[in-house]
Amino acid sequence: MARAWRCINRKPRLFGTLVRVLMIGDVVGKAGRKAVAALFPALREEHGIDFFIANVENSAGGKGITKETLDELFAAGVNVATAGDHVFQNKGYGAIIGDARVVRPLNYPPGAPGHGWTVVPTAQGVPVAVVNLLGRTFMKPVDCPFAAAEKALEALAGTAAVCIVDMHAEATSEKVAMGWFLDGRVTAVCGTHTHVQTADERVLPSGTAYITDLGMTGPYASVIGRGKDAVIAHFVTCLPQRFEVAEHDVRLCGAVIDIDEQTGRARGIIRVQSALP
Ligand SMILES: [Fe+2]
Ligand SMILES: [Fe+2]
Repeated sequence: MARAWRCINRKPRLFGTLVRVLMIGDVVGKAGRKAVAALFPALREEHGIDFFIANVENSAGGKGITKETLDELFAAGVNVATAGDHVFQNKGYGAIIGDARVVRPLNYPPGAPGHGWTVVPTAQGVPVAVVNLLGRTFMKPVDCPFAAAEKALEALAGTAAVCIVDMHAEATSEKVAMGWFLDGRVTAVCGTHTHVQTADERVLPSGTAYITDLGMTGPYASVIGRGKDAVIAHFVTCLPQRFEVAEHDVRLCGAVIDIDEQTGRARGIIRVQSALP
């Protein structure tokens, strides 16, 4: 049986006024995809999930995405897939072009394929906007994520009350700053990329749910998804090593967000973590 921490602040569903979103952090390789397929049905039932967002930047062999891996995740229930700095590291990145269910960081420089925001309805017809941003601190010098967020909000004005932002970044400070920057203007700012779940989930004063990192969906007997022996050898010797995707202690990590569909404000956010047997 899958283990799932209960939703401790779960609120009663008010008829017609509540959307519940599950968003999970970086799905890593085959193990991560397996976790999504095996664990999502129980989470959907337990939490009454209406919409499922997954960061898929590492879903194909640990780097990038392919059409096959995306199709597998969509078949498992993912509604929208987000990405990050590894999105173009697999030749299969063409899968993001033209598919309205996939977004890559909006603030890649002009000329990058794909799109950085989308609007996809829930099964009940509630439009959900999803925006993907990439941090710049300790990362590639992409365009400004804050300016990109402003542009996205302008473009999305009037299209969807519910707007979820994946802030894919290394630095905690840059993610926290984005949370405050967008507080009251989007439903949630959820961080991805570090592969380690943080315990700082909260609803900010103006109604934006925030968590610095959703955590990894993949093998935890690893160093952020890669076989630990090779990574340790690299740190110890400083010599290049071949980093294979690990396989054991597979978990799904993310957060459930309760949302008022009329206002787009978050009512609550809780962390979830489920493990394969
Ligand atoms: Fe990343
Ligand atoms: Fe990642």
